[in-house]
Amino acid sequence: MVNPKQFVRESVAEIAAEAGSHQVVIALSGGVDSSVCAALAARAIGDRLIPIYVDTGLMRKDETVRIARMFGDLNLRIVHAEEEFLGALAGISDPELKRKAIGERFIRIFEREARKTGAPFLLQGTIYPDRIESEGGIKSHHNVGGMPLHIEFEKVIEPLRDLYKDEVREVAGELGLPPEIQHRMPFPGPGLAVRVIGEVTPEKIEVVREANWIVEEELVDRFLPWQCFAAVLGLGTGVKGDNRVHGWIVAVRAVNSRDGMTADPVEIPYDVLGKVSSRITAEIPSVARVVYDITPKPPATIEYE
Ligand code: XMP
Repeated sequence: MVNPKQFVRESVAEIAAEAGSHQVVIALSGGVDSSVCAALAARAIGDRLIPIYVDTGLMRKDETVRIARMFGDLNLRIVHAEEEFLGALAGISDPELKRKAIGERFIRIFEREARKTGAPFLLQGTIYPDRIESEGGIKSHHNVGGMPLHIEFEKVIEPLRDLYKDEVREVAGELGLPPEIQHRMPFPGPGLAVRVIGEVTPEKIEVVREANWIVEEELVDRFLPWQCFAAVLGLGTGVKGDNRVHGWIVAVRAVNSRDGMTADPVEIPYDVLGKVSSRITAEIPSVARVVYDITPKPPATIEYE
């Protein structure tokens, strides 16, 4: 386990040395990894840090408003790129190609923003498991294997590259970040795109965004899972009123884990699952069926793609 105090001291010095007198763009998503990176970099280089949040249209409900509130005093730039991401994902069903398309869009947007200020370096919150899973060929995390080969940045700085998630949380505590950030559930970089099977469409994203919101409302405070969410699996039959309908199948997943490398399903009482199911089908009329996933990792992964 890393010593948080020592880690903060060393990585602030490392970021300052790597940045020299230059400006650095940081990809800030509002999760614990990128928030810790931003706090370290703010200590290291002050206002030479240029934090950028990209609204991909694939974020959780109300996320952009929340980020603007939390990081407003860091001079946060918000880039609205919903149409750009939807366009880049149109017609793509393969999970790896989806991740690559998203990784490419992210980097091109950061390059575009960096050009406006002349910042030559990019800072990212890549952590150890992201690298392991990308290098192991399991999947391309959008910020590692999903990154295009040719990028304009002279250097990518990754201060958290050797840390596990629980270590990042300890460092967040050491840095005095609010508990809301320190204990926030992980959310994948490619966002809701990996929580819909197959092609990303505005309708599927709307359904999965609402379903995620309901799952978080019902399960987070009550069970404090390591991660919980909903995913859209596809279309199936159902009955609404007197009619047979074609509706979305939504999977609910809640897991406990130490570092995301392995995970166990949370044992949720039937009445709670029943409430989640009835809320999702009532509040999202296009959903016909809700299932609860009880598979551990391995053999399943936490996310669906
Ligand atoms: P899996 O699905 O691989 O997830 O069991 C392990 C942890 O990593 C998160 N995850 C991602 N995070 N980019 C990310 O930044 C990704 O492409 C990605 N895929 C999965 C996942 O939410 C879980 O916490």
